[in-house]
Amino acid sequence: MTMFREFHLIRRPVGLPSVDDFRIAERPAAPLAEGEVRVRNLFLSVDPYMRGRMSEAKSYATPYDLNAPMSGGAVGRVEESRHPALPIGTLVLSAHGWCDGFVSGAKGLATIDPADGPPQAHLGTLGMPGLTAYVGLTEIGRLAAGETVLVTGAAGAVGSVACQIAKARGCRVIGTAGTDEKAAWLRSQAGVDHAINYRSAGNLRKAFAAAAPDGIDLTFENVGGDHLEAALANAKTFGRVAICGLISQYNATDPGHGLRNVRDILTRRLTVRGFIVSDHGARRDAFLAEMREMIGAGAMRWTETIVDGFERMPEAFLGLFSGANLGKMVVRVGP
Ligand SMILES: NC(=O)c1ccc[n+]([C@@H]2O[C@H](COP(=O)([O-])OP(=O)(O)OC[C@H]3O[C@@H](n4cnc5c(N)ncnc54)[C@H](OP(=O)(O)O)[C@@H]3O)[C@@H](O)[C@H]2O)c1
Repeated sequence: MTMFREFHLIRRPVGLPSVDDFRIAERPAAPLAEGEVRVRNLFLSVDPYMRGRMSEAKSYATPYDLNAPMSGGAVGRVEESRHPALPIGTLVLSAHGWCDGFVSGAKGLATIDPADGPPQAHLGTLGMPGLTAYVGLTEIGRLAAGETVLVTGAAGAVGSVACQIAKARGCRVIGTAGTDEKAAWLRSQAGVDHAINYRSAGNLRKAFAAAAPDGIDLTFENVGGDHLEAALANAKTFGRVAICGLISQYNATDPGHGLRNVRDILTRRLTVRGFIVSDHGARRDAFLAEMREMIGAGAMRWTETIVDGFERMPEAFLGLFSGANLGKMVVRVGP
């Protein structure tokens, strides 16, 4: 009998999660009904938003149930099929993550064209994180050629794409990241004009002021906290801030000091707008067209951090909060 392994969340983390908050369960694969396929996952995604789903707090995504299968992005290969449009060998993108395989109908499965790049790119640059970067810059941030753009959390899945889209559209780009290695990657591969290692930069307000002496037109915010305060303090009058994520706050157990310089939003007449990518699925075709063009022109580089082994999913997930990844963090489940 074919067996699948899947992760369950067994308790709600307080603060930083631990690997003991998860356990692996086994379940037999159901026999296929007409129109169904059995998929073996190849790559699983770990994403910061999953931290929110581990909590019961009301948010835009439903909380994970305890002691139940968890969902998330996954790329897999059809290994048995009773669906004519999904023959054996078809690569599919699904939300059946945190498990090594599943049985499903065609609904919720998107076929992947191998010509687009390695399959796991559909979890990163060509997938949800890439679309997030695209939507945040274009629809939310309304970026224009010649502007100065700050991308915080710039060396991750979303940030690395945001930097390159902004460069391709003729902007001057400043990126922040947590190590010198990441800052070097941002300069040499993503082509940013100024990369700041926020851990060694000292006062971030001063570091942003030095990188953008005339001010920042658009901030693409992934981090929050001191990064966001420093971005507001260096925004141009009538500047914009697209709030994509606040990863520095996701494990916080108290509200902290909050934003101390909301006044800058008033005095500089800033537009600050949050967004969630799932509201912008209609932009997917335009995004993919721009990505294919950029990749073809050599203007979109990406790297990824691959953790090998299904059982290491929690470790990979936790790595997002310690900065263990350069580019998209994925877990390789199978060959
Ligand atoms: N709005 C949406 O629809 C949407 C969709 C996808 C993602 N997001 C958000 O976008 C952001 C990036 O997501 P991603 O998937 O691309 O993750 P990622 O950037 O690939 O990985 C997370 C990175 O965050 C940085 N980080 C972690 N804790 C930090 C802290 N306390 N201070 C500063 N940096 C910290 C780490 O890099 P360093 O080494 O640089 O610290 C880490 O590598 C997250 O905030 C996420 O929630 C939003």
